[in-house]
Amino acid sequence: MLVVLKIGGSVISNKNEPYSLRADYLRKLGPILREFVRKGNSLVVIHGGGSFGHPKVKEILEKGSDLRREGWDVVNLMLEMSLRVARELGENFVVHSSSSIWCSSGPFVRPILDSLRLGWIPILQGNVVYPGRVLSGDEIAVALARELRADYLLFATDVDGVYDEWPQGKPLKYVKACEVSAKESDSIDVTGGMKKKLEEINKLPPTICARIFNGLVPENVEKALYGEDVGTLVCPC
Ligand SMILES: Nc1ncnc2c1ncn2[C@@H]1O[C@H](COP(=O)(O)OP(=O)(O)OP(=O)(O)O)[C@@H](O)[C@H]1O
Ligand SMILES: [Mg+2]
Repeated sequence: MLVVLKIGGSVISNKNEPYSLRADYLRKLGPILREFVRKGNSLVVIHGGGSFGHPKVKEILEKGSDLRREGWDVVNLMLEMSLRVARELGENFVVHSSSSIWCSSGPFVRPILDSLRLGWIPILQGNVVYPGRVLSGDEIAVALARELRADYLLFATDVDGVYDEWPQGKPLKYVKACEVSAKESDSIDVTGGMKKKLEEINKLPPTICARIFNGLVPENVEKALYGEDVGTLVCPC
């Protein structure tokens, strides 16, 4: 089984407090992910910008600069975030820079495959890529799921799934990516929140669906990895 897991920056950090990481959460999550791989599965982890990438991009744009000029600052910061995430998750996790594997045609997957062959768990991150474009973790996750022909594509986020109406409605069990009117994000976010996530999922080939669930509860991540029904199953239209 090959699983691509996008962990929201909203899950591993507090998006309302710049540069905060939920270390206790990551220490609980590490053994769950490692055990999944120890059982013979392959796992690729992508995390979002959370309280690191989003405020940094905003800061650069708000002072009138742009990411062509100062994107390097975001790239380095996001790698620092990934390294801290990898250290908290523990053994076997290895950081790859999304900026270094992203080509105009999509991801160059060989370095990822090499890590998987060694039984390591690659970590990638939403980041800035050439020529100064914000590449969201959601976009990387969808592209990798397609390229690697993943069995499951999972999105751990900070809500119980896709709500029929945000925020008054309730989480759906199943939805087609083009059939729900999601909004952006309630917290600081430069990559379009739930709305953009669904747009990305809609680019999947018809053979793959994605699951969006509340990853703040580590047991939900475990359930999703083993194919249990948590959150919302989202299929492309
Ligand atoms: N229909 C909807 N159902 C659920 N959440 C929604 C909906 N519409 C908008 N949202 C917002 O989208 C947010 C989730 O997207 P967000 O981009 O903040 O998280 P993430 O992708 O997990 O984090 P990051 O972008 O840092 O990786 C929710 O917290 C909520 O505020
Ligand atoms: Mg997001």
